[in-house]
Amino acid sequence: MLLEIKQVSKQYIRDAWALHEICLQLKPGIVGLLGPNGAGKSTLMRILATIAQPTSGAVIWDGTDIRKKPDALRRCLGYLPQDFGVYPHLNPLEFLQYAAALKGLHSKKLRPQMMELLELVNLHDVIKRPIGSFSGGMRQRIGIAQALLNDPRLLILDEPTVGLDPEERVRFRNLLTDLSGERIIILSTHIVSDVEATADQLALLANGRLLNHSTPAELLHTVQGKVWSVVIADHELQEARRNWTISSTVRRMDGLQLRVVSDHPPLPGSTQVHPSLEDAYLYILSAREEAFIEPYPHHL
Ligand SMILES: Nc1ncnc2c1ncn2[C@@H]1O[C@H](COP(=O)(O)OP(=O)(O)OP(=O)(O)O)[C@@H](O)[C@H]1O
Ligand SMILES: [Mg+2]
Repeated sequence: MLLEIKQVSKQYIRDAWALHEICLQLKPGIVGLLGPNGAGKSTLMRILATIAQPTSGAVIWDGTDIRKKPDALRRCLGYLPQDFGVYPHLNPLEFLQYAAALKGLHSKKLRPQMMELLELVNLHDVIKRPIGSFSGGMRQRIGIAQALLNDPRLLILDEPTVGLDPEERVRFRNLLTDLSGERIIILSTHIVSDVEATADQLALLANGRLLNHSTPAELLHTVQGKVWSVVIADHELQEARRNWTISSTVRRMDGLQLRVVSDHPPLPGSTQVHPSLEDAYLYILSAREEAFIEPYPHHL
């Protein structure tokens, strides 16, 4: 099983790249797609889900170009779009039956499978309730369940943890681990902790470009010895924000304790601390900003 993304670019409007020459080779495992708003995560996922076409480049699924034969991939695909919509009058079971019909799934085993899925996403107690009465997090979970319907070999989840409370987030991470194996799972998120324990690989996008593709351990290594703890006075914060990449701020009795990601100690007497993936993420993004790449023109 191999998903090859070959120099994929996307322009929605002229002279602005929502994606620019993305190259990735994905094998079975969990890939976390990280990046700030507008990075191009959803655009890439829509292209992989065969809902959008790249302006140039190709996506090859097990040797088949999906532009020529999208069905080869669609048969194996489970997709949760970022703007997942539900029919409010249907209950979870009816919704799954509807989603199964759209996917052309017919089998006597479907109903027990659906009940199993509803149990997996912790909605088995509410199968009689219309989805319209659900909270955002519950709707998100029905979205995850429909993506899993055909036991897909390629699972694409665009911000699956949005709206989930901390307990459900943990359940979701466990579910991901249970699902991993002989399938490729791609999930996008802004929340590094959603993927740090589960993802085998991380792909970092910003302004339509792939900044980094590595394992979490490799990414962590990029900030080894570059994370510092400093204490400053309240009035120095604005200046500090201008000059440093700050990954956290904690108020203390004697001022503000900052976690700063920097090649060199930001102040004499700065203490080195253990890096986290979040530090690495910010470090790579800030290095990118310093190199200054023309951003996507949001005003257009
Ligand atoms: N249909 C569209 N028409 C024009 N521009 C678009 C369209 N969809 C996305 N874009 C632009 O393409 C860029 C990438 O958007 P995309 O939605 O892929 O980013 P994202 O990483 O998913 O962001 P977010 O974290 O906010 O979901 C953005 O600058 C966005 O404004
Ligand atoms: Mg998005």
